Amino acid sequence: MTRTGVDPAARVCKSSRTHNRDSHLQCKNGILGEMNGANMAEIQPLVAGNWKMNGLKPALGELKKLTNALGGASGANTDVMICPPFTLISSAAHQCNGSSVQIGAQDCHANESGAHTGDIAPEMLSDAGASAVIVGHSERRADHGETNDMVNAKAQAVWRAGLTAIICVGETDTQRKAGETLEVIANQLTGSIPDAATAANVVLAYEPVWAIGTGLTPTTDDVAEVHAAIRTQLEAMLPAGEGRKVRILYGGSVKPSNASELMAVPNVNGALVGGASLKADDFLGIIAAYT
Ligand code: PGA
Repeated sequence: MTRTGVDPAARVCKSSRTHNRDSHLQCKNGILGEMNGANMAEIQPLVAGNWKMNGLKPALGELKKLTNALGGASGANTDVMICPPFTLISSAAHQCNGSSVQIGAQDCHANESGAHTGDIAPEMLSDAGASAVIVGHSERRADHGETNDMVNAKAQAVWRAGLTAIICVGETDTQRKAGETLEVIANQLTGSIPDAATAANVVLAYEPVWAIGTGLTPTTDDVAEVHAAIRTQLEAMLPAGEGRKVRILYGGSVKPSNASELMAVPNVNGALVGGASLKADDFLGIIAAYT
């Protein structure tokens, strides 16, 4: 993968050309940059904004500011995504058509259709214009009792719909204080990542639960330790060479003032941003860490 610009048409599933063992697992709408190179230092970063349960129609104005500032996809050396609430996905995707901003979703059901009142299938998200789905966010794990098995099934469902799964892992404050961080993360990775994961269909996000929305962040040494452990495990788990190309995002109180420092940590290949993604100016300040 290079960090050079990617033509908008070529962006669509560009990565799948090199990882087409299972055609049904390939990204259809394509959030990933070019993944042909094996040099980890050249992994194209992804800065993804998670709007959570925030945003009525006027919030699309912030998205407009973002696309105006970033311009078209050609020439971008950082992939940018916004994951708005379900209600805005279709309008947001329409608005971002032809821009460098991709649209993702925050969760999905594992089934394609059926009697699941209130749930959304990944096929519906694809239909609405999403190219990726966040699965296993700690707020889903905590508020909805999502287990690693459920996250694993959702990730496979995301692939079934031709989208990219952004799989989240992270330890609680209690677990960190008990010295269990690496063990917790290892178990979440083992349970949540399906066997067929590749750099083309998965993005990992490390989000310490205690850092989300709190203004607290781990030290860069702590981030480096966890991301290195995730990289090592991905290399062991994934087929031939895929583990060293998967993007590992850091998430948890990322803001313009700490983005450069966090994004410079080895094995940090981008950010998953909550609160600071709601305002275009703040989000642009984070993206600027890569320009
Ligand atoms: P935060 O949220 O940036 O507001 O801490 C991050 C996340 O939950 O993805």
